Amino acid sequence: MTSTAPRPDAAGISFPPGFVLGSATAAYQIEGAATADGRGPSIWDTFSHTPGKVLGGETGDVAVDHYHRHPDDVALMADLGLTAYRFSVSWPRVVPTGSGAVEQRGLDFYRRLVDELLQAGIDPWLTLYHWDLPQGLQDRGGWADRDTAARFADYTAVVADALGDRVRHWSTLNEPWCSSLLSYKAGHHAPGHTDAAEASAAVHHLLLAHGLGTRVLREKGLPDLGITLNLAPIAPATGSAEDADAARRVDGQQNRLFLDPVLRGEYPADVVADLERAGAPLPVREGDLEVISAPVDWLGVNYYFAHTVRGGSSGHDAGNPFIGCDDVEQLDPAGPTTTMGWGVQPEGMTELLVRLRDEHPGTPVVITENGSAWPDEVAADGVVHDVERTDYLHRHLQAATDAIAQGVDLRGYFAWSLLDNFEWAFGYSQRFGIVHVDYGTQRRTPKDSARAYAEVVRRHRAGR
Ligand code: FCB
Repeated sequence: MTSTAPRPDAAGISFPPGFVLGSATAAYQIEGAATADGRGPSIWDTFSHTPGKVLGGETGDVAVDHYHRHPDDVALMADLGLTAYRFSVSWPRVVPTGSGAVEQRGLDFYRRLVDELLQAGIDPWLTLYHWDLPQGLQDRGGWADRDTAARFADYTAVVADALGDRVRHWSTLNEPWCSSLLSYKAGHHAPGHTDAAEASAAVHHLLLAHGLGTRVLREKGLPDLGITLNLAPIAPATGSAEDADAARRVDGQQNRLFLDPVLRGEYPADVVADLERAGAPLPVREGDLEVISAPVDWLGVNYYFAHTVRGGSSGHDAGNPFIGCDDVEQLDPAGPTTTMGWGVQPEGMTELLVRLRDEHPGTPVVITENGSAWPDEVAADGVVHDVERTDYLHRHLQAATDAIAQGVDLRGYFAWSLLDNFEWAFGYSQRFGIVHVDYGTQRRTPKDSARAYAEVVRRHRAGR
C-alpha cells in the first residue's frame, strides 16, 4: 500500500492558522536520574528492576538523561522550530511517597524546564500522569484503591501551585487504558497484575482522579484543560455475528469506556454489563460520574493504528487486556508494519477523528501522540535516513488535514517522540524518536524525519 502510493511531502500539507505542531515525551521514558534530588521510586522503577518484566532487563535509571540535559534538548527543539512541547511531570519526583511531603527540588526542575521552553518560544503542554505512580501508593493498592484518586488531586494542586503561573495547557492523564487494563489485567505494564476486578477498579479510579484533578485545576483558574486517551478504530474480521460482538466488546473497553464517562457523564451500558458478567464491576459511587464529566477544553487522542478482531475462538486469556474477552483474537495488521508490529494506517486516524466529530460534537481534539518505530541506523554520513518514519509522519499529518477538511475540530498534532527513549516493556529496543540518541554517549542526532517535520512547521509558521 504505502510502497506504491505517491509519498506526500511538506509542500502538500497545510494547516489552519493557530494549529499547534509539537513533539511529545514522558518523564520515565527520558529523564533518568531515578534517585536524584529526593525522587522516590515509582511502580516503573520496581517493575523494570523485576527480572523478566522488561526486555533485556533494561530500566529507566538513566534513560536519555534528560534530567541533566534539558537545556540541550530544549535548544534542539528550538533549532527544529517546534513551537509546542508535551511532557509529563514525574509524581514521585514531586511527592516522593505519593502523599504528604513535597520535594521542592523536583518542582524546581520542572520550573527550570518550563522557563527554558518559554524563553525559546515553545509552549509547554503538561501531563500530570504518564504512568509513574509512586510505589508508596501502589503499596496501598495503587489504582485499584479509591484513595489513590484523592492523592492524585492533592498532587495536582501541588504542581498547579508551582507551575500554574507559566503553563497554560494541562492534561490530567495519559492513556488510562494502559494504566488500568494493560497494567492490572494483562500484566504487561507496571504493576504487572493480572486481576480483572482490580483492572476494572483501576479504570474507575483513574477516571475519578481525572475528574478530581480537573476540578482542582479549574478552581485554580487554569485555562486549557484536557485528558489524553489512546483510541483506535476496531473492525470485525468478517461479517459474522461472533466477530461483530467481539468488535463491540473491544471497542467498548478500548474507546467508549473512557470517552463516554468523561464526555457524556455515563458509562456505556453494554460495557457495564460485560464487566459485571465477567465478575469485574466498575466500583461507581453516587456522584462519581458528575465529577468525572467535569467539562474539558480539549480531548487528547493518541493514535497509532487500527485494530481488527475475531471472536469465537478460545484460549486468548493470557496477556489479554480486555476483560471477558478470552474468545477474542486480535489479528495482525494487513500491509506494512513497524518494528512494534503495528500497522501503518493513516486513514484509521481520519476515520477515528470523524467518528469523534459525530459522537462527541463540541469537543476540540488534539492528536497528543502519533509516531512509529523503525530499525534506524546511523549512516556513514552520520545521519539517520529514516525514510519510513518520514513517510509515516507525512501521511499522518495529511490524514489530520483530511479530518479537518471533513469538519473535525482538530487543534494540534504532537509527534511521538522528540527523542529515542525507554519504550516501557520493550526497553530501548524500539526507537520512536525523530531525534536519534546514542545510548552509550547520549549524543543526539536529528533524523531525516526531524528535518522533514521542521519543514512542515516552517511552512506553517510562514503561513503556507
Ligand atoms: C503510547 C505511550 C507512549 C509511548 C508510545 C509509543 O502508548 O503513551 O509513552 O510508549 O505509546
